[in-house]
Amino acid sequence: MRSAAWYAGDDRNSYIHRAWMRRGVPGDSFDGKPQIAIANTASDLTPCNAHLNEVADSVRQGIWEAGGVPLNLPVVSLGETNVRPTAMLWRNMAAMATEEMLRANPVDGVVLLGGCDKTIPSLLMAVASVDLPAVVVPGGPMLTGTFRGTPLGCGTDVWRLSEEVRAGTLTREAFLESESSMIRSRGHCNTMGTASTMGLLAEALGTTLPGVAGTPAADSRLLAHAQETGRQVVEMVRADRRPSQVLTEGSFRNAIVALAAIGGSTNAVVHLLAIAGRLGIPLTLEDFDRIGGDVPLLVDLQPAGRFLMEDLHRAGGLHAVLGQVVDLLDPDAVTVTGRPLVASLGDASIWDPSVIRTRGEPLLPNAGIAVLRGNLAPNGAIIKPAAASAHLLAHRGRAVVFDSVEDLHARIDDPDLDVDADSVLVLRGCGPKGYPGMPEVANLPLPRKLLRAGVRDMVRICDGRMSGTAYGTVVLHVAPEAAAGGPLARIRTGDVVTLDVAARRLDVEVSESDLATREPAPEMAAALARPRRGWERLYVDTVTGADTGADLDFLVGASGNEVARESH
Ligand code: FES
Ligand code: MG
Repeated sequence: MRSAAWYAGDDRNSYIHRAWMRRGVPGDSFDGKPQIAIANTASDLTPCNAHLNEVADSVRQGIWEAGGVPLNLPVVSLGETNVRPTAMLWRNMAAMATEEMLRANPVDGVVLLGGCDKTIPSLLMAVASVDLPAVVVPGGPMLTGTFRGTPLGCGTDVWRLSEEVRAGTLTREAFLESESSMIRSRGHCNTMGTASTMGLLAEALGTTLPGVAGTPAADSRLLAHAQETGRQVVEMVRADRRPSQVLTEGSFRNAIVALAAIGGSTNAVVHLLAIAGRLGIPLTLEDFDRIGGDVPLLVDLQPAGRFLMEDLHRAGGLHAVLGQVVDLLDPDAVTVTGRPLVASLGDASIWDPSVIRTRGEPLLPNAGIAVLRGNLAPNGAIIKPAAASAHLLAHRGRAVVFDSVEDLHARIDDPDLDVDADSVLVLRGCGPKGYPGMPEVANLPLPRKLLRAGVRDMVRICDGRMSGTAYGTVVLHVAPEAAAGGPLARIRTGDVVTLDVAARRLDVEVSESDLATREPAPEMAAALARPRRGWERLYVDTVTGADTGADLDFLVGASGNEVARESH
């Protein structure tokens, strides 16, 4: 055991390490028993994860049962709705802090408790770099809330209802009344947003016990799975089964297939790229198109469709979905159990074909995230065709450019704004370096005068991200970002932009030489982040582009779990 470097022996130092850790545990707890950290993102400021202390209690029981010693390890937690300027600014910090604390401590294995958007990605990045046996328990989605007899989807219905208010078709009173109905129970957002997506992808990657992801947070089966996970991680330590064996190229293939079939969040692209970067797996933006492009959309969940996560679970869950695309999965990629993911799908059935479609009757034949290139996005940009309007996937229109979110909010509803339904709305300065942290602002609100005229979607282009709960014809993650000198910084209102998703192109009809000689817009440059100190400074100075996962350049790769020098 790695922890023997602290606890084994009869000298002064092992005495110190044992004595302070006795805290009421049996005396044989240090005689070679696996020491298992429970990396716990429970926090009252991360309401989606607030129930994870109870989940941790079940994990602890499983660890004791299997002969290990559980150790609660509270880690940096990121509440998507609270943290400003965006939780994404702190994903890499959470990953770094978790990685370092696992390495610094007498830990042999770890159970990862996450839920809200950035929490599972940061935990997986951490264990990819420290390479200690690890299993995820996704905290699970909340139950379906209803308002005036109709289900409310977290996030998605906020966007929808607030646009209805702006369009004048819903009163502000009714809108505010719906607020208390949306978050019905413990758990994370119940749409196919980023949290749901990353929980399901944690399973597709092989990092959960099979069949766990998507179990609602309030479902008693989640606690049973948590206890089983506690047993499992002890077995993994004994078998020395590490993230570097579970997270292989094949498991990323499985995650990309799953991402397309479930109609998952675009944020998964940047998270999977970052996790792969920690492992030295050469995953690229193009892999999402190449592997996921022809995968059918099988899950009818908001924001692309109708249902919510509770429906997906009762309809058969991820296993039923993957059972339909098993021929596209890597047959050798193993899970935390040491057995192939595909071996766990044997008898997966669809119990409600309106929620999970069969391969023969998909919602869309080609659902993967499309990767665009062109003179507006030399390093790539992405679009989720499943959440876009079919009639806008090939489009040509005049750009209306905004230099910051403040500029956007000041002008978007101006009756004199020169904009029509064919215009292309561009928002820049919102990439990792620019904002900083790459916020979810890419689904810009539509101009009120166009909403009132019945327009419900327009082409939008941004170097930021979009909430996984959002929808629309939105080109996002444009790279290089404007703040890193990307051409987005040099386009002007009135330039003609062409989007051709079938051809995977995003271009502005300005010659290369004209574009190159233009100066970056001064209003945009003035709005860019210039942090003087602290994490923001470190982040802006070292963050990589969205096309490579927006990790810090010095965090890419692994450091392993070698035991450091003695502390005294
Ligand atoms: Fe936490 Fe949506 S706000 S998952
Ligand atoms: Mg989000």
